[in-house]
Amino acid sequence: MTVLITGAGIIGSHTAAMLAARGQSVLLLDRTPAHDAIRTIVDDPRVTVVAGDVTDVDALERLVGDHAVDAIVHTAALLSTAIRKDPLAGIHVNVMGTANVLEIARRRQLRRVVLASSATVGYQAFGDFDGTAFPEDFGMHYLRHRPASIYVGTKIAGEYLALLYRDLYRVDAVALRYAAVIGAWSGPGTSVPGKVLSSLLLPARRGETACIDDPFTVWNGGEEFIDARDCARANVAALDATAPTQGVYNIGLGTLASFDDFVAAVRLTHPDLQVRLDVRPAGGFAGFPHVRSAPSDISAATRELGWTPAHPLADAITHYAPLLA
Ligand SMILES: NC(=O)c1ccc[n+]([C@@H]2O[C@H](COP(=O)([O-])OP(=O)(O)OC[C@H]3O[C@@H](n4cnc5c(N)ncnc54)[C@H](O)[C@@H]3O)[C@@H](O)[C@H]2O)c1
Repeated sequence: MTVLITGAGIIGSHTAAMLAARGQSVLLLDRTPAHDAIRTIVDDPRVTVVAGDVTDVDALERLVGDHAVDAIVHTAALLSTAIRKDPLAGIHVNVMGTANVLEIARRRQLRRVVLASSATVGYQAFGDFDGTAFPEDFGMHYLRHRPASIYVGTKIAGEYLALLYRDLYRVDAVALRYAAVIGAWSGPGTSVPGKVLSSLLLPARRGETACIDDPFTVWNGGEEFIDARDCARANVAALDATAPTQGVYNIGLGTLASFDDFVAAVRLTHPDLQVRLDVRPAGGFAGFPHVRSAPSDISAATRELGWTPAHPLADAITHYAPLLA
């Protein structure tokens, strides 16, 4: 049987590499596959890269039928920066793309669907949270904690669609809330943690001062990160899990890093890095208004998926630093 991965970006490509390494046949689908970038992560005959659009439900279902797909890892999405520029496209891809994947899983009775969600679904509630570890089932005020971006709105919609397809149609769907993802990717991409890393590493490599002038790439308080390889390990764990009853899982390091911690981790490979802040952060990470004071509770992912992170922040940055284009 074949696993279909939608989205041949950084997380999709790492997931394909990990599944292929254990002998799995994989279809890696993207609207615009960045073949050269994908090859830097996965170059395995068991992975077939296909061009396709998750908003085209008929073509997607044909692909699932033609290739005997029994499970889908759905990572295709427009990220926050891209959605800010084209909200309608983001809503279309993120909401309808997710609905299409779940509907195909229902019609074809697929074994499992793993959906890429985001820790940002909880960011609005940080201001009112006083615990030590932020749970998946956090307390939320419907109006006061409404999403601060359309991207977050689409991710919340995706999680609820997944839970509804579970409850109403017995579709075995699992949503993973990744923290801010650290990786190196030479293809097109708009991830904020990717920008943070390049804004420090690229000038450091040229021996120049890193001048931080984008308020989204510097933050007050802490942010939680996760290595793209750990996201891939979580996707594989979620495909394999025997009883993922909670359905939604935090996938993060379970620790927070301040901007200074992040800079210190970059200095492990570039000790001469100099940083100049030309902007002051207004709030938390990526322009979110609330400063984060607690990392995620990752115990459910450990208990139900058998997953724990393997790559601390310094390890992730040291690993990706030489690969960043
Ligand atoms: N990168 C992060 O920091 C982060 C954090 C939390 C959650 N996530 C989620 O993880 C998932 C993967 O993120 P990533 O970092 O790999 O992003 P990415 O941008 O590297 O990959 C997403 C891929 O989806 C593709 N895509 C976009 N629209 C499509 C469509 N209509 N049909 C098919 N493919 C399409 C893009 O071409 C891109 O290659 C996303 O759902 C994202 O929301 C990412």
